[in-house]
Amino acid sequence: MRKKVTVVGSGNVGATAAHWIASKELADVVLIDIVEGVPQGKGLDLLEAMPIEKRDSHIMGTQDYADTANSDIVVITAGIPRKPGMSRDDLLNTNHKIMKDVVGKAVQYSPNCILIIVSNPLDAMAQAAYKMSGFPRERVIGMAGVLDSSRFRAFISEELKVSVENVTAFVLGGHGDTMVPLPRYSTVAGIPITELMDAATVARLVQRTRDGGAEIVKYLKTGSAYYAPSAAVAEMVEAILKDKKKILPCAAYLEGEYGIKGLYVGVPVKLGSKGIEQIIQIKLTPEEKAALDKSAEAVKELVAVIGV
Ligand code: NAI
Ligand code: 2OP
Repeated sequence: MRKKVTVVGSGNVGATAAHWIASKELADVVLIDIVEGVPQGKGLDLLEAMPIEKRDSHIMGTQDYADTANSDIVVITAGIPRKPGMSRDDLLNTNHKIMKDVVGKAVQYSPNCILIIVSNPLDAMAQAAYKMSGFPRERVIGMAGVLDSSRFRAFISEELKVSVENVTAFVLGGHGDTMVPLPRYSTVAGIPITELMDAATVARLVQRTRDGGAEIVKYLKTGSAYYAPSAAVAEMVEAILKDKKKILPCAAYLEGEYGIKGLYVGVPVKLGSKGIEQIIQIKLTPEEKAALDKSAEAVKELVAVIGV
């Protein structure tokens, strides 16, 4: 039987995630949104592209959660995106209300699914979804690190004029201004970038990564990034559905790992068919640990506001 992925929110990130998932033939896809007609129209349009793409994924759009029943994965992208001048944190209360609307309905129909949360502010929304769902932490995963590290990888590849395939990168912490790109663990063909660039260049790329979301918002003016974010979702979906045991940076509920307890923060995890199958603990220098703690504090402040 084919796998089934529901994408809640059929806006820029949701519809583009459906596009990547279907065009990689990872699963059948159900798009759902509160705006009547939008998921139906986008779903049908994608379905009609499948013969050209030579893919047998079935895509449909709906307003009815019954159509999402027994999904293997539910991706939640419902929520408002930021506009120029707004931070991700400005979306907190509105998107928390939206999470309250969608999480219960999604898990009622797919009690065994794995939830991938995308809505911002990411770590706080993942924590809200974790608490609302009652799922074990292995099955509620936040998407941010795959996106942030892909941005870092793109900038490294462009700077050194090397294939993106040679570049790996890690970004830890919350998905916000305090995120922690880790140059020591970012490599080109296994060589740490700290040996390939001077400190000023590394610092410039680190800052551009931290500002990566804002850089796109500034260009688009009416919304935020969606091609790279939805490609990141598709990579996580693939790792889970194909049980790849892939090590990716994701937001996970920490229970003492990295000295952090009771909080969603971005860390390296092993993704497979059970969701988060392991939280990988890497050694951090005192400076890196301090930066991670500062980032966790920023997440803690947000979750305190919404009381999750
Ligand atoms: P968008 O505005 O294009 O789409 C959001 C969709 O959610 C809209 O179609 C809207 O009708 C729908 N929606 C709102 N309330 C709903 C509800 N109660 N039930 C079902 N659908 C509902 O926004 P976009 O660009 O797709 O971004 C979505 C969210 O993802 C934003 O919060 C954004 O900040 C976040 N995001 C997070 C990233 C990350 O790295 N974690 C990266 C990119 C975006
Ligand atoms: C980004 O980083 C909006 O969080 C989203 O582009």
